[in-house]
Amino acid sequence: MKESDAVDPARRDALVLGRNLLVGGAAACWIGAPPAQAVATAKADAPVMRTLSLRINGTAKTLELDTRTTLLDALREHLHLTGTKKGCDHGQCGACTVIAGGRRINACLSLAVMHDGDEITTIEGLGTPGRLHPMQAAFVHHDAYQCGYCTPGQICSSVAMLEELRRGIPSNAAADVAATPASTPDELRERMSGNICRCGAYSNIIDAITEVAGARP
Ligand code: FES
Ligand code: FES
Repeated sequence: MKESDAVDPARRDALVLGRNLLVGGAAACWIGAPPAQAVATAKADAPVMRTLSLRINGTAKTLELDTRTTLLDALREHLHLTGTKKGCDHGQCGACTVIAGGRRINACLSLAVMHDGDEITTIEGLGTPGRLHPMQAAFVHHDAYQCGYCTPGQICSSVAMLEELRRGIPSNAAADVAATPASTPDELRERMSGNICRCGAYSNIIDAITEVAGARP
């Protein structure tokens, strides 16, 4: 043994005592009762379940959900309606747009429990492959997509948006509405500004919406 490896017996005893105190102290933390604050935190994090009824695409559904579940997760994870897409999950892209009680909403920003009793329409409820909604058919006709990820949200949003126009509901940019007659491409662009298309298919999307808007009675 080198001289430098020799440890003073008194110092060695102190090190052993310190180690035992550390190990014993840690054990006491795990074995003893958890602190009241930890118990309160665990209780606060415990899920609160609630039964709710939704009418999805014309069909009544009853779900037992954690009250923190978003409408988007209820649709995708619990009802397996995966046509509604999760893009940002933060209310910024519009990929999750559905129609709730006639209004277009971002399903990622809305808790499912807030829609107890509501009528929800998703892309699956607008049309079927053999019988497309006019807006779906117009998107196909005008090639209004590339990857298609934003498309269900674009279509749900545009269907509800044309209904807003029909009912004379102003857009958020009141000045723009006053300056441009309804259904001009600028007006449609402004009203669709909450739906982002990363592929940049905007001009084709507006062409599709314009076609359907023009065909409205
Ligand atoms: Fe909801 Fe982007 S996923 S706005
Ligand atoms: Fe790809 Fe819009 S078609 S994001």
